[in-house]
Amino acid sequence: MTNWKKPPRLFIPGPVLVKDDVLQQLARPTLGHRLKEYAQLHGETTQMLKKLLFTEQNVFLSTSSASGIWEAAIRNCVGLDETVLCTCCGAFSDKWATVAKNCGRKVHEMKVDWGKPVLPEMLDEKLAAGKYSAVTLVHNETSTGLTNPVEQISQMLKQKYPDVLVLVDSVSGMIGLPLKFDELGWDVAFASVQKAFAIPPGLAVAAVSNRAMEKSKDTPNRGYYFDFQLWAKSNEKNQTLVTPNIPHIMALNYQCKKLLDEGIENVWKRHKQMGDFVRAWAKENFDLFCDQKYASNTLTAIKNTKGINVAETINAMQEKHNTVFGNGYGKLKEQTFRIAHMGDINLEDLKELISWIDDEIR
Ligand SMILES: Cc1ncc(COP(=O)(O)O)c(C=O)c1O
Repeated sequence: MTNWKKPPRLFIPGPVLVKDDVLQQLARPTLGHRLKEYAQLHGETTQMLKKLLFTEQNVFLSTSSASGIWEAAIRNCVGLDETVLCTCCGAFSDKWATVAKNCGRKVHEMKVDWGKPVLPEMLDEKLAAGKYSAVTLVHNETSTGLTNPVEQISQMLKQKYPDVLVLVDSVSGMIGLPLKFDELGWDVAFASVQKAFAIPPGLAVAAVSNRAMEKSKDTPNRGYYFDFQLWAKSNEKNQTLVTPNIPHIMALNYQCKKLLDEGIENVWKRHKQMGDFVRAWAKENFDLFCDQKYASNTLTAIKNTKGINVAETINAMQEKHNTVFGNGYGKLKEQTFRIAHMGDINLEDLKELISWIDDEIR
């Protein structure tokens, strides 16, 4: 690349800042993906992910971004003439409903105002009134900075709708927020690695329940690239169906070791501390976009109550400090701005960022 300038430090909600030691993992010599060295890497990585996600079921690595798993979850877990209930509370949950429609499934959308959570009672009412084989849920809505009350929702689903498959996008939640897959009774949960795993984009991780695997067997037209049955056959050999993104898997292996060393509960705590800090600043100077009770610990969407020019502020930060935060997403572009606090960062990094934003808006 000519005129290479050091790119800005990222506080956008993905891709997030990647530390140099992690980047170095991407430069290790390549392994043959059908050789024993790869199998060892793959097996070790999926075992560590099982610990981090609290599951004894299936964990897959997909050389795709998370959007691929939106499609995979639908194509494997929703029959061609079945209906999926998609809960929609922001740009990403809306997009998943679109993906389900594009896969030719019958989709009912349960719309909630942006900035408001999906509540168990709303979902209960919808599920009671229709016949659904699966429900889609976004753990952490990156467009609104909101974490849905997934524990309460999952309890309700387990008690009242044990036959409905629970498909969860945890793209900006996984690792930063508590996620105990087996206990929650989820069937698919996934993330791409450019969020709280703090790895460059290009790989996704998916936990899949045994019952989702059974369902997939009977679901026709699963395609090839995202077929859970083909994935499982390869996983048995500690391989992937297609040539995987091996450098990313090396980085993931490295990050999983670091996360286990830190202790996943401590990782969640660190994210909560960062969330508390950014929220306190946001409330003092602006306001939160979403209901505070549901505000996310991996990113904050801040209501632009002062009418600052978000784009100009971000440009100025880049000019002066080679650092950027996120603008609002989609229709919220100038109404909000977003600060990501996930991955390999800590309070000190955020204090510096906030002091620079303070200088800019004063
Ligand atoms: C909640 C959520 N779901 C899905 C996606 C899409 O992920 P990817 O870009 O890795 O396909 C994103 C991306 O930001 C997201 O935040």
